[in-house]
Amino acid sequence: MPILDAGAVEFFSNSADQTRRLGIQLGSALKAGDVICLQGDLGAGKTTLVQGLVAGWGSPDPVTSPTFVLINLYGRGDDLQFTHLDAYRLENVAEAEALGIDDLVARGPMVVEWANKIDQVLPQERLWLKMFIVDEERRRVEIAPEGSHYEALLENLQETVFGLA
Ligand SMILES: Nc1ncnc2c1ncn2[C@@H]1O[C@H](COP(=O)(O)OP(=O)(O)OP(=O)(O)O)[C@@H](O)[C@H]1O
Ligand SMILES: [Mg+2]
Repeated sequence: MPILDAGAVEFFSNSADQTRRLGIQLGSALKAGDVICLQGDLGAGKTTLVQGLVAGWGSPDPVTSPTFVLINLYGRGDDLQFTHLDAYRLENVAEAEALGIDDLVARGPMVVEWANKIDQVLPQERLWLKMFIVDEERRRVEIAPEGSHYEALLENLQETVFGLA
């Protein structure tokens, strides 16, 4: 068994701030229709990454964990909105379907915390970021594209984050 799936890359973050900066780089490339799936234990850094994504996309709105409201929407002064969904408290797939994910995604990028819980309700093409706690300050982030659009997005991210051609 390979450690990483084909096409996946690995990133190590040494601080919350570094995770935020990874998010900023990725967020600046996001468009309406893009879906980012986050997976990782409590405290892995999912919401911290979302803070970067939203800032990088261009919204000044503060990002908080939507654990109790399920969905937060962030704006940037145009007619788009960035959807932040936390699936942790969703009880079943029907509840997830009722959110109208397709309509939300049409209006801007979407990021989903605990995306693994509602995997089958999300568009099949998406970018996965799986976050693992190494120690108090260190996180391993596995980034895996599903679909050619996300393969290209990840290649661009590698160029900006790692400086690879
Ligand atoms: N390298 C790092 N990357 C991200 N967060 C880090 C890192 N090092 C330390 N932290 C800390 O870990 C915590 C991560 O919390 P965060 O809310 O982002 O996690 P989460 O995965 O969203 O958790 P939950 O499942 O409860 O929503 C924060 O307190 C953050 O400061
Ligand atoms: Mg969170």
